[in-house]
Amino acid sequence: MPHRGAAWVFASSLPTTDTTLPADILFRAGKLCVSYIFEAELAFSPGSPCAAAIQDPASRSGRRSVPHRTGRLQPKQTRENTMRSLTQPVAEERSKQEDFETLKRKIHSKLVDKLDLSRVGELEGDVLRREIRLVVEHLCDTEDTMLNRNERERLIEEVLDETFGLGPLEFLLKDTSISDILINGPKHIYVERRGKLEKTNVTFRDNGHLLQIIDRIVSKVGRRVDEVCPMVDARLQDGSRVNAIIPPLALDGAAVSIRRFGSNPLKLEDLLNYKAFTPEMVMLLEGAIKGRLNMVISGGTGSGKTTLLNTLSSFIPHDQRIVTIEDAAELQLQQEHVVRLETRPPNIEGKGQISATDLVKNALRMRPERIIIGECRGPETLDMLQAMNTGHEGSLTTIHANTPRDGIARIETMITMAGFELPIKAMRQQIASAVQLIIQANRLQGGPRKVTHITEVVGMEQDTIVMQDIYRYVQDGIDENGRAHGHFESTGIRPNFMDRLEGAGVRLPASAFRQRVMMTD
Ligand SMILES: Nc1ncnc2c1ncn2[C@@H]1O[C@H](COP(=O)(O)OP(=O)(O)OP(=O)(O)O)[C@@H](O)[C@H]1O
Ligand SMILES: [Mg+2]
Repeated sequence: MPHRGAAWVFASSLPTTDTTLPADILFRAGKLCVSYIFEAELAFSPGSPCAAAIQDPASRSGRRSVPHRTGRLQPKQTRENTMRSLTQPVAEERSKQEDFETLKRKIHSKLVDKLDLSRVGELEGDVLRREIRLVVEHLCDTEDTMLNRNERERLIEEVLDETFGLGPLEFLLKDTSISDILINGPKHIYVERRGKLEKTNVTFRDNGHLLQIIDRIVSKVGRRVDEVCPMVDARLQDGSRVNAIIPPLALDGAAVSIRRFGSNPLKLEDLLNYKAFTPEMVMLLEGAIKGRLNMVISGGTGSGKTTLLNTLSSFIPHDQRIVTIEDAAELQLQQEHVVRLETRPPNIEGKGQISATDLVKNALRMRPERIIIGECRGPETLDMLQAMNTGHEGSLTTIHANTPRDGIARIETMITMAGFELPIKAMRQQIASAVQLIIQANRLQGGPRKVTHITEVVGMEQDTIVMQDIYRYVQDGIDENGRAHGHFESTGIRPNFMDRLEGAGVRLPASAFRQRVMMTD
């Protein structure tokens, strides 16, 4: 296993003040299989996988060995104790926090010192974490910290988060009520809860620390971020989407935006509870999916497009072959028969890029029954329309636009910008025959996200695409908390595609299209 040795050399060449490296080394080594050396007495159960891996590193590697201790570990009374202030009443919370950080760094760097990747035993992630926890606890006890029980526990957890996870971010990631995490440089971290942004008191040590965590995130999905490539899209293990942009492009330190879509995706019931749409609207959308209408979900940034796409895709029958194409995979389809494809940015020499267009072209050769493109933002739009027109009915995508009409205009713009010289009428005919339904998502003032239009694309009248709203949301005002409120209404129009849906066995009651107010906030 040549990479093990290489990883060990890397580990042993690390500066001991670096507090975030071991997990990188472990994960980059390709497996979570590590043994480590800890020379002091530890409470490893004899025969535990870790205990078996423990030997004296100095005898093999020539590294510095720490003297053995016996019995209960005593604090070093003679040494200057930097952490005394943690338990003494200190005037400034900040200095207490700094001391805590100093101790954390110290313990972490000691842990780095004691890790030895060359003594590899195949340890499961959980086992490894448990065993390393013992080491950290022991290191904590050897320091004369006099931490109280809560502080000690917090310190141990934070050291483990530095080692195995994403450092300060772990604390936020554990909080399921947080939907977005927005990092503007190392000291300003905001989160979104229930549509409201709030500042947290979580911080990174400095920009270097933040960059290390970013590197850790993006390297796990085979991407990189540096001066040559200062912007990157990635995702966390739980599926959350990450965008990072670093200096010199980001002027005040690296900026990271984490969309926690993956960890806690909203389900149909949640969206109904949030009054994102009405049951009648869901009925129509379910019918449209089953009747294989091509649909475009249109909306602004963070308006809930991907959430809707995910929810709607749950109506796709399980016996159909689906191919999904995304820049950073975040869709979570429930069906079994799904092929997930992800685009690839160019490598350091600017080669090897695989665009969404390439993937759509390839997907067409994979005998898909439906193609789902996470978001159309470029030349793949025309390929998508052609796929919709040529036997892949029931395909879905999203686009960035604020109204259904804008959505159509945006599709036209993307086709034109991609350099296809189609006469405008031909282009519109292509769009009108490919897309039957536009679902408009909007994020309203104060946070609520609603499906504001379900609009049918009827066809062409001379050079214009004709559209009609079936359902829409009308905003009535703003309440005392600054949140928009309004009502959903049915326009009284029975969509033209109902005949097609009935042909496919989908029946909806006539009352579903009766003109009325369906629901108020
Ligand atoms: N109806 C809703 N009510 C409350 N929260 C919602 C609703 N729909 C989506 N969200 C939340 O809003 C956030 C953004 O949703 P989503 O990622 O679907 O938006 P998007 O339009 O795809 O964003 P982007 O433009 O960045 O791709 C997510 O955290 C999601 O859980
Ligand atoms: Mg999205």
